[in-house]
Amino acid sequence: MKILLAPMEGVVDPVVRDLFTRIGGIDYCVTEFVRVTSTLLPKKVFYKYCPELHNKSHTSSGVPVFVQLLGSDLITMGENAHKAAELGAYGIDLNFGCPAKTVNRHDGGAALLKNPDRVFQIVSSVRRAVPQNKPVTVKVRLGYSDKTLTQEIALAAQEGGGHWLTVHARTKEEAYRPPAHWHYIKEMKDQVSIPVIANGDIWTTTDHKRCQEVSECEDTMLGRGLMATPDLALQIKKGGPAVEFQQWRTLLTNFMEESRQYRNETYAVQRTKQFTKLMARTYDESAQLFEAIKREKQYETINNRVQDFFCKREILPREERIS
Ligand SMILES: Cc1cc2nc3c(=O)[nH]c(=O)nc-3n(C[C@H](O)[C@H](O)[C@H](O)COP(=O)(O)O)c2cc1C
Repeated sequence: MKILLAPMEGVVDPVVRDLFTRIGGIDYCVTEFVRVTSTLLPKKVFYKYCPELHNKSHTSSGVPVFVQLLGSDLITMGENAHKAAELGAYGIDLNFGCPAKTVNRHDGGAALLKNPDRVFQIVSSVRRAVPQNKPVTVKVRLGYSDKTLTQEIALAAQEGGGHWLTVHARTKEEAYRPPAHWHYIKEMKDQVSIPVIANGDIWTTTDHKRCQEVSECEDTMLGRGLMATPDLALQIKKGGPAVEFQQWRTLLTNFMEESRQYRNETYAVQRTKQFTKLMARTYDESAQLFEAIKREKQYETINNRVQDFFCKREILPREERIS
């Protein structure tokens, strides 16, 4: 059973990939999408999205990272995929799920699902451009506005040479509205012989089990669920109880510090607010912490608030015991 950390633009950056793969349970990562238009991108763009290229495209704990490309031009998609591979990308993942208006208007992301032959052409072009030992994988939604082309989409991914297919079980128009329709993943899986990876709305170990049953997929990709519960992949693989928020002090401290080193203090401030908000779905304490920092702008102040928050919580139970 494989678990992938989902690509999430503006959320899953190299810092998150590093910290989360150190927690464990994750088998592969995918970068945020690299937008390909009509040019061959310079090296620095690939290094920016995937600094792991300096480490043979693996996180510090040894988990492989795919570079994700988003675009529709057959020539430049091939050229950029070739370049990413040359720079050492473990593999290339192709994004056919992005719902963003500007991306779709410019013929990219989920808009391509309206015409599965375009998916086939793009996957084929990238497959031809990348050395055979590097996997080319495909990530899709169930369709653009309806689910009538799911089987054609799955076949297009396979026939184009996709090594595996990840399916986010919603259409573009369904955006992120629950529920995810896992049973459609099974229909797509029945069409193809390549592995299919189920994705969408796996928030708990129970969701994971249910998703595996309904989709009949062994392998899954976790996005927001992992951000809310950073050891979700580990819980799925090893069992055991969920850890308490108190135990995430080091994670949050490292998250702030590494985000600052990766970009700057403003970036770290924004990301820390985002992360505590995402974790609030699982932890009430994280909601409280978010409330305590949401209006703050200074890195130092937020860092102090985070440390105070955990210290108070460590001291409180002792005081309660004494009284
Ligand atoms: C903020 C955000 C950014 C995302 N960025 C990407 C992206 O860059 N590439 C991609 O293929 N999917 C992207 N996705 C979709 C996720 O990879 C995933 O398919 C979706 O969130 C459903 O999985 P989940 O319910 O486990 O979060 C993004 C989703 C979110 C919420």
